[in-house]
Amino acid sequence: MSIFSYRDGELCAEAVPLKAIAERFGTPTYVYSKAALLDNFAAYDRACRAHAKSGNALVCYSVKSNSNLAVLNLLASQGSGFDIVSGGELLRVIAAGGDPRKVIFSGVGKSREEMRLALSHDILCFNVESIPELQRLNEVAGELGKRAPVSLRVNPNVDAKTHPYISTGLKENKFGVAFEDTLSTYRAAAKLPNLEVVGIDCHIGSQLLDDAPLLEALDKVIDLVDALEAEGIALHHLDIGGGIGITYDEEKPVAVGDYLERLFARVNAWRDAKHGGAPIKVLFEPGRSIVGNAGVLVTEVQYLKHGASKNFAIVDAAMNDLMRPAMYEAWHGVKPVTQRMQPGKVYDVVGPVCESGDWLARSRDLAMEAGDLLAIMSAGAYGMTMASNYNTRGRAAEVMVDGAEMHLIRRRETPQELFALESLLPGDAA
Ligand code: LLP
Repeated sequence: MSIFSYRDGELCAEAVPLKAIAERFGTPTYVYSKAALLDNFAAYDRACRAHAKSGNALVCYSVKSNSNLAVLNLLASQGSGFDIVSGGELLRVIAAGGDPRKVIFSGVGKSREEMRLALSHDILCFNVESIPELQRLNEVAGELGKRAPVSLRVNPNVDAKTHPYISTGLKENKFGVAFEDTLSTYRAAAKLPNLEVVGIDCHIGSQLLDDAPLLEALDKVIDLVDALEAEGIALHHLDIGGGIGITYDEEKPVAVGDYLERLFARVNAWRDAKHGGAPIKVLFEPGRSIVGNAGVLVTEVQYLKHGASKNFAIVDAAMNDLMRPAMYEAWHGVKPVTQRMQPGKVYDVVGPVCESGDWLARSRDLAMEAGDLLAIMSAGAYGMTMASNYNTRGRAAEVMVDGAEMHLIRRRETPQELFALESLLPGDAA
């Protein structure tokens, strides 16, 4: 059974009709499937167990893709580690019961405070992106009397062949250390007394459909590990990042199990040939491939506007709820929650925000009437985490379905909450 499928004309998440969720919690609401999350994580876990030498693998779920505590808690219960990009994400992981010793900290702009927080929780590794960052981390670790475990994010300069905004492994990107500078940067890191060089990492982009660029990046990283070892810098892990894509429309992404099988075949052959079979730990940072297709955004049609050149369905979700179409012209499927038998019309599905860029889908053939519910598909990743309060719109509620049960995992924000942190000028400015 597919996770989001029709039963008697009603679109369901597992066994729960989305209509029942909208009736109980209102709209717009993100709905996630627990079974889908578990299945998607299991695809990584199974492949790691089957192919990694002596269990030397760790999946560090990329928190930015969906950071709801219930999602993090569920993944932590499966043994997942976490890839974070801020102190806030670390606090979320801890609040959700995740193990900080399985946390890797990515990102180009870590503040001193964030470094202190992460060091005080003994995280697994800092993925460092520049020499000034190495120096700052060395200082902060020294102040705390600690040695910070570090990996350098290298830029393997491979083309991930994805949207330019989400491609990160090319020379012109702001991320990582240039490939040519890797060895000298490692030498600099190895000299800093409060750092312990433990790994190497890369992340070449997101929504990759083919694993060839990832395997190409792996080959480059492997060469670097050998070159470093020849200089006496031995690494404990290599981290290949995230990036595996999902089906939004008709894309056919590589299966996670196939990618990992090919990846471990290379890693194991390399270790056997050059390192007497000694394993190296392999880390992954998947986000989208775990949560993307485990979630939908349910929204209610407010008005239908039929025009000479276009028809608009104005819904109660907007670009502030799901930014991806406005930001990347991303395509998301749109399905009626209750199927109608009448013939459809072609609509642009747009939100109430005062921007022409506020659209969720364009030119879709839909049979609907005002008051109907629509499901924006594949919205589990980079949906709620990229939501804003633009136009003083409270963020959507989030619900997790488990079989026939629905659980509210984040209630809707109230308007009062949106300005509760603000204050007037002193005196009687008014
Ligand atoms: N690791 C690092 C260092 C990353 O920067 C990212 C995502 C990931 C892991 C997870 O990648 P994934 O497995 O999800 O592809 N907002 C965009 C996607 C931005 C991705 C940023 N980095 C979108 O909505 O498509």
